[in-house]
Amino acid sequence: MTRPTPVPPDMYPITHRRPRDLSDRVALGTVKALRFVADRFFAGRYGHRAVVLETVAAVPGMVGGLLQHLKALRHIRDDQGWIRELLEEADNERMHLMTFVKVAQPSMVERGIIMLTQAVFYNFYFFLYLFAPKTAHRMVAYFEEEAVISYTHYLADIDSGRHPNPPAPEIAISYWNLPADATLRDVVLAVRADEAGHRDRNHEFADHLLGSAEPAADQRVESSSGAGRTHAPGSDRDAA
Ligand SMILES: [Fe+2]
Ligand SMILES: [Fe+2]
Repeated sequence: MTRPTPVPPDMYPITHRRPRDLSDRVALGTVKALRFVADRFFAGRYGHRAVVLETVAAVPGMVGGLLQHLKALRHIRDDQGWIRELLEEADNERMHLMTFVKVAQPSMVERGIIMLTQAVFYNFYFFLYLFAPKTAHRMVAYFEEEAVISYTHYLADIDSGRHPNPPAPEIAISYWNLPADATLRDVVLAVRADEAGHRDRNHEFADHLLGSAEPAADQRVESSSGAGRTHAPGSDRDAA
């Protein structure tokens, strides 16, 4: 079996935006706490992790799109393209879900978690976005920072042979226009690119709402835990 070609480490670097104020710190703290719980629950079960977390990831874009739509109606003004972009983000996340459900079927417990989490998270995020949209976008951006890290781990495990690399599901091949012989690795690469785009865009939305003329620069993250690894172990370079 041939080993897949390593991904250029700079392609979708793991980046982190330092919190600038208290609300950013609250958003980051919440995301880190949820990541801790997810890491304990899913461990290395990447497919299951993706299925459950993508059901959550598909909520904020829809809520943000709805509330921006209502705001544009209330103020009778142009939305500057935000509504369409947020709804597209939600749709893109739903396609991640439809893809990974072909890779891993959620257990009964996970289906229960999905139902409960949606009930809680939808309401939580709705009111967060209604009263603190900047924090809501920053929180999504921090979620997406973690998603890029998780999918980078997923890639590293596929590259090392710790995780199988079956053919890509048909739905993924047509959605991302992948070659007919694409594998799971190609899918994870495509999804990671999407998450990196959501991360950067949501930081920009938050900066815009902050009214910041000079957005803070993203920091590339060097990880000693292998979080930045996007290539087969044995090489001496990790992704930044
Ligand atoms: Fe996603
Ligand atoms: Fe995302």
